[in-house]
Amino acid sequence: MLHKKLAPFPKDFLWGASTSAYQVEGAHLEDGKGPSCQDVKTVPAGTSELDVCADQYHRYKEDIALMAEMGFKTYRFSVSWSRLLPEGTGKVNPKGIEYYNNLIDECLKYGIEPLVTMFHFDMPAALDKRGSWGNRESVDWFVNFAKLLFENFGDRVKYWLTINEQNILTLAGPVIGTLMIPEGCTNVLKEIYQQNHHMMVAQAKAMELCHQMLPHAKIGPAPNISLVYPASCKPEDTMAAQNFNAIRNWLYLDMAVYGRYNNLVWSYLKENDALPEFMPGDEESMKNAHPDFIGFNYYNTSTVKANHEDEYKRSSSEDQQSAGKVAGLYDSFRNPNLTVTEFGWEIDPLGFRNTIREIYSRYHLPMIVTENGLGAYDTLTEDGKVHDPYRIEYLRQHITAMRLAVSDGCDMMGYCPWSAIDLISTHEGMRKRYGFIYVDRDEFDLKTLDRYRKDSFFWYKKVIATNGEDLSD
Ligand code: BG6
Repeated sequence: MLHKKLAPFPKDFLWGASTSAYQVEGAHLEDGKGPSCQDVKTVPAGTSELDVCADQYHRYKEDIALMAEMGFKTYRFSVSWSRLLPEGTGKVNPKGIEYYNNLIDECLKYGIEPLVTMFHFDMPAALDKRGSWGNRESVDWFVNFAKLLFENFGDRVKYWLTINEQNILTLAGPVIGTLMIPEGCTNVLKEIYQQNHHMMVAQAKAMELCHQMLPHAKIGPAPNISLVYPASCKPEDTMAAQNFNAIRNWLYLDMAVYGRYNNLVWSYLKENDALPEFMPGDEESMKNAHPDFIGFNYYNTSTVKANHEDEYKRSSSEDQQSAGKVAGLYDSFRNPNLTVTEFGWEIDPLGFRNTIREIYSRYHLPMIVTENGLGAYDTLTEDGKVHDPYRIEYLRQHITAMRLAVSDGCDMMGYCPWSAIDLISTHEGMRKRYGFIYVDRDEFDLKTLDRYRKDSFFWYKKVIATNGEDLSD
């Protein structure tokens, strides 16, 4: 669709950027914090442990000041569950409450709206031992944690996100070190989707609780949504794309917004004896929950072709963005029309616009992009500069696509690329950098941990100052 005149971004558009607690904070066992599943996992060979990360726990004042200098309207960060509740339930750690109070107050000091993710891949290790999301009690654990958050921070936090990338947790848990499959489990698919069901119910209850406790706050989900393309115009490839779209994307948003299971996913699970078990009240909770907006992460699209094998068989994907395959449903297909990043992720700005259009036409809710960005190797020069034109180009193309989607009539309320500052990747270490702010450390050498402004820092500052009008160098 061509637009002779582009619509502007809304005047109160929330420009900012994102991080997550276990990837940025460090201080992983300090001041009473209990370990999370990320602290006890074996990290992939050649990558850093998650004990220090970017050390934001000790340097948050400096980091927020830099974000303020860029002109951030919002900062999306997550709360570490085990920093607040070292055992996941029970005794509260006052130092944890103090830390997030300080972080929130520091943001507000500069007029930066905190956008708080309640859960970002870091189940308390104590709850992992009790079965994690596989334990039905996880619903109550999460609601209890949500209540603690609303009670302590709800007077100042207006925007909440429930669970980061629940779809990736479900589809690629082992890649990010989160999936717990009990020993001897004979129906892994059923176990995975039972865990997923518990998260759905937990999310629904947390949204309802938020609306009861904080009538002025807004809350939404934060899955990773990206449109799936058919590899060709063969009708069976379109059906394969529908299959994967349902499994990867729509299941999560249909549930969050309409409180019902997607019919294609339901049929697939039924066929595999993997339907989740409902407890009394689950259906009602899911129906009663209504998000105020949709947060979503977008990195790239997927492309699939038909798979004609006559038995369903899952193969795991090698990273969280690739489709993998389910025999009988779809096969991943490398899209020849797209280039890839240094880390092999496809780049598809037009797919970003397509994705936004599709989400809006299905759900008609305001949207905020909670992640989008380029993981790359960056180099700090002798004179303290980081020249990252590749990141600027990636972001420019995606912001342009988002502006076009706004001109298409989609209701966008904000944009938070990944990441505000360099941090540790889910499974590819410190060397895969995303930030506007460079952190002086390597994979294993902590160096000074000093902060440096990358070229993209100055560029994004201008983008924000002009409300997205000036994307030039
Ligand atoms: C998303 C996650 O999957 O992508 C982030 O929400 C993650 O936690 C980001 O860091 C980029 O992925 P990666 O694997 O490059 O760190």
